[in-house]
Amino acid sequence: MVIKKINTAVFISGTGSNLLNLIKFSLKKKSKIKISLIVSNNPKAKGLDYSRKYKIKKEIIKFNNKKKAEKKILLNLKKNKIKLICLAGFLKILSKDFIKSFEGMIINIHPSLLPKYKGLNTHQRVIENKEKYSGCTVHFVNSKLDAGKIILQKKIKILKNETSVSLAKKVLKQEHRLYPKAIIKITSNL
Ligand code: GRF
Repeated sequence: MVIKKINTAVFISGTGSNLLNLIKFSLKKKSKIKISLIVSNNPKAKGLDYSRKYKIKKEIIKFNNKKKAEKKILLNLKKNKIKLICLAGFLKILSKDFIKSFEGMIINIHPSLLPKYKGLNTHQRVIENKEKYSGCTVHFVNSKLDAGKIILQKKIKILKNETSVSLAKKVLKQEHRLYPKAIIKITSNL
């Protein structure tokens, strides 16, 4: 049976290791998504290299004027029949209106056990607070920062001499396992 894949856009701002991981996942026969567009607010994002390598369209949009930027993105999403948006290290906050027009179909990965440690510099704050556990979360995006309904979460133990760098590495590895699982979960009955 041929699975009709869901046209998906991945939004990035930097390295794009989650993007690469999602591309690899999307290429699996069983996967229900096809990554048709990469959006970046940062023209220097390393993750943009995957556009050429995997022949995926890219759109670089500066966010100096958010309203204009979002309008342009929405047009392109429509043109490419995008049905799912995966935020993966995307550092801009999308407006309420933008989120509304894709309600329930924008998801994000965050490197903490939400609702704890929303926002940036999570690993550093986790270490400073001497937490025993951290982890990562995939959640639906709503108009509040890192506050939408949780789809899946993975908890990891923090070791005695853990630093924010070693923790980031460990969490990222788990992120790469969790994001595809979360996508499978939300697309299983589509
Ligand atoms: C990840 O830790 C993600 O959870 C956070 O930003 C980082 C992006 O890494 N939102 P990458 O660009 O996917 O490598």
